[in-house]
Amino acid sequence: MFHLSMLSSVSVLLLLDQIAKIQSLVYGTPVENCRSMIPQHDYYLPQWMDPPPYILSASVIPTNTATTQFNVTLFAKHGATFKGFFIQARSLTGDRADAILGSFDPVVDSRIAHLINCPDGANNAVTHNLNSPKRFVTFVWNPPANFEGKFYFV
Ligand SMILES: *[C@@H]1O[C@H](CO)[C@@H](O)[C@H](O)[C@H]1NC(C)=O
Repeated sequence: MFHLSMLSSVSVLLLLDQIAKIQSLVYGTPVENCRSMIPQHDYYLPQWMDPPPYILSASVIPTNTATTQFNVTLFAKHGATFKGFFIQARSLTGDRADAILGSFDPVVDSRIAHLINCPDGANNAVTHNLNSPKRFVTFVWNPPANFEGKFYFV
């Protein structure tokens, strides 16, 4: 009897582990992938396309205030779609080159995406919810206070 219940709790744990894994793919990139940004999709290999059928664009949002915000938009070229995404800003210069920078504003449409707290930051990455095909997602990003230096979106 004891052994039986041990076995069944082990198999429940394994099942939960698999469910967690599947959910992490459907519901965006898990925090463990913040640095590498490589999706851990067990059954698929990366597909290299050069040039990629997607464009990640960033532009300053015009305002009358002293704060600078950036419009970060990912869109698919000529009728292509994407299912998942993971967007961050990285520092290009200084002691903290390659650090994940700044923070995203709350996501307007929570069906599309959610923010992630990558190490040493809060709301410093954004990833998809659900893996439905998308053509266009757009977010607002704030640089760190008093930031001086170069950065890029990835
Ligand atoms: C961000 O840029 C996209 C693409 O140009 C545009 O459609 C969207 O309205 C812009 N959003 C903001 C908040 O500026």
